[in-house]
Order: sequence, then C-alpha cells, then structure tokens
Amino acid sequence: KNGVSIGLFGLGTVGSGVIQLIHNHQEELFHQVGCDVKVKTVLVRNIEKDRDVQIGDTELTTDPNKILQDPEIDIIIEVMGGVEEAREHIIKALNAKKHVATANKDLIALYGPELQQIAAENNCDLFYEASVAGGVPILRGLSDGLVSDRIQKLMGIVNGTTNYILTKMDEDGFSYEQALKEAQELGFAEADPTADVEGLDAARKMAILARLAFFTNVALDDVEVDGISQVAVEDLNYGKKLGLTMKLIGLAHFENQQLEVSVQPTFLAKSHPLAAVKNEYNAIYVNGEAVGETMFYGPGAGSLPTATAVMSDVVAIIKNMRLGVNGHSFVGPRFAGALKAADQRFSQ
Ligand code: NDP
Ligand code: HSE
Repeated sequence: KNGVSIGLFGLGTVGSGVIQLIHNHQEELFHQVGCDVKVKTVLVRNIEKDRDVQIGDTELTTDPNKILQDPEIDIIIEVMGGVEEAREHIIKALNAKKHVATANKDLIALYGPELQQIAAENNCDLFYEASVAGGVPILRGLSDGLVSDRIQKLMGIVNGTTNYILTKMDEDGFSYEQALKEAQELGFAEADPTADVEGLDAARKMAILARLAFFTNVALDDVEVDGISQVAVEDLNYGKKLGLTMKLIGLAHFENQQLEVSVQPTFLAKSHPLAAVKNEYNAIYVNGEAVGETMFYGPGAGSLPTATAVMSDVVAIIKNMRLGVNGHSFVGPRFAGALKAADQRFSQ
C-alpha cells in the first residue's frame, strides 16, 4: 500500500484543523514520512451539519464501525471529546491493531495508564501530545528532550480559556460572561466550559504532565483544584493597584519525597514572565536537576495549533511503523526501568 489512511473521530474545532493541516502541508508531511497521508473516513454526530472545512473525497459517517472495521485504516485520530464513548472506540481500535492519536485530556487523565497498557499489548502506539497545552510540544519536550534529566518542578498556565478570560477582564474591561462567550466562539473552551473555568481541565493536564515528568501515577483526586468562576473584575483591579496580575497556575512539585500537584488562581508580579502570557497562550516552566530552568510557550488552544500537535503524533506513529517499533508510547522502552527508579526514589 502506498499511503497511510486515517480514520478521524470528530470534525469540530480540532478535527477541522487536522483536515486543513493535512491538505495544506501535504508536501511537508510527505517529506517526513515518504508517503501520502490521507483521512479516509470521519465520524461525526450529524452528517447534515454545515461545515466550513473542505473534505474532498473523505467520507462522513455516524457509524464508528465504518472506521474501526476498515482494514485499510492504520491510524485513528480521536478528537470527538467525552470520556466513555471515546474510551470504547479507542480500546476497539487498539485491539484491531490501529494506532491512536488523541487530544482528549479528560480521557487520558482518567484512563491513560489503562489505555497505554492495551496499546502496548497490541504493539500499537497511543500518543496524546495535543492533550496538554494545544500547540506547545510539552509532552515530547519532557519525554524526548529532557528524557535524561530529573525533573523537580513544573509550573505554568495550561488552560487557554481561563487565561483568555483573565486577560480580557484585566486588560479590556470585559465582564466574565463576555470573555467566556468570546473564548467559546473562538473554539478554545470545552463543549461544557465548566471544566475550564473550575480548573478541572488544568488539573487533568497537570496530572498528565506530572505522570510523564515524575514517572508516577497521579490520580485526579490528588490534585488540589480551584478555578476562576468566582473571580470578579474588582479582584483584578485590586491586584492591578498593587502591581499584580492574576493567572490560573498549575504546579507540580517534587520535594522531600513528596509530589504535590495543584491548580490555583494566583497573583503574580507584573514583571513575572508568566504574567506576560496572554489570551489563549500557555506557558510551562520546567525545572530539571541538570537542565536548570526551561520554559515552553505557545498557543494552548485553537484549531490549527492543536492540529499541529495531533499531526506530530501521526508522524511519530508512521515513523515507528516504518521501523516496526510501535507500542512504546511517550515513555518508550524507558518506562519499566524508569518506573523502578521512580519507585525507589519515591519510597526513600
Ligand atoms: P468540538 O465540540 O468542536 O467537536 C467535536 C466533534 O466530535 C464534532 O465534529 C462532533 O460531531 C463530533 N462528536 C462528538 N461526539 C460525538 C459522538 N458521540 N459521535 C460522533 N461524533 C461525535 O470539539 P473540539 O474539536 O474543540 O475538541 C475535541 C477534543 O480535543 C476534546 O477532547 C477537547 O478537549 C480536545 N482539545 C480541544 C482543543 C481546542 O482548542 N478546542 C485543544 C486541545 C484539545 P458534529 O460536528 O456532527 O457535532
Ligand atoms: N479548553 C482547553 C483550553 C482546550 O482552553 O485550554 C485546550 O486543551
């Protein structure tokens, strides 16, 4: 077979970005993987819906089996959201020996280890770069770039919607409701924005980050969470008078053999580098024993930025297919050894 065929679950903000990116950057993708990459079939809820994106000869369906049982489809991209249905589709896909790229942090925060196990048993890849910080390659940064280091602390802004709301309230005099509405219209917010504004989306992302950085399982219940739904313009104005700006800060800190993960609205000095991260942008500081301090920065939500993260997973999957080394996901062969080392570190 000459090309690689993809089955896409979801054609909303992120799914449309994926279609557009594959269409517009076909040449770059070909250069990376040496073959055509094509979305064969897309699962949607409503086939009749008007859509802005041009899908060419890609077929729309409401039947997931059309994708899951298609032997021509090698890779599934899951960008439909939700937990239980997406989980079922992904398990079926992995058991059918299809590789998976997903942007679904709700799912990965809850079931990541289970799904990774199923992927490994099937020699399949399960990647989820887009699940944290949209277009910022933080998961590969941790699991490739900083792979030899010992991470001590992660701190940052990992939710675009709340950062957009806080920026608009602080700088443009928007009300909370106005700013949230705009973030929804721009496609940054979750289908139910409660997860964004109550800090849960950020908590899920911090749990995923902490797993990769500290090689330990972080349950969502262990993340201390507070959101921004109770923040008023008056609070921000009060901070402003003191030279402070409010950000929703995620923190994962390993100290005295204890890992603490939290998400809290926090006042920062205007001169703090995270105070300069505006709108839907995200930034994550990583402190490593060897590297010192590094910062990852970029668009944390939105159609095309998130699609670039999804396609980085797809390219990684295809390269692994060529080498016949699928099944190791982000942490790769280092996982078992690293877990052992982490166990020792955590039980000291
Ligand atoms: P949207 O709500 O814009 O799109 C969801 C798509 O999935 C729609 O095309 C919808 O079909 C389809 N869909 C949803 N449920 C079903 C179902 N049960 N059966 C069939 N099709 C279904 O979501 P987003 O694109 O914004 O987000 C998708 C995923 O990516 C989520 O997990 C989200 O958390 C994550 N994400 C989103 C980012 C963003 O900036 N928006 C950034 C990073 C991650 P239809 O069009 O017919 O309604
Ligand atoms: N709703 C999420 C956000 C999308 O605003 O950050 C990106 O994960």
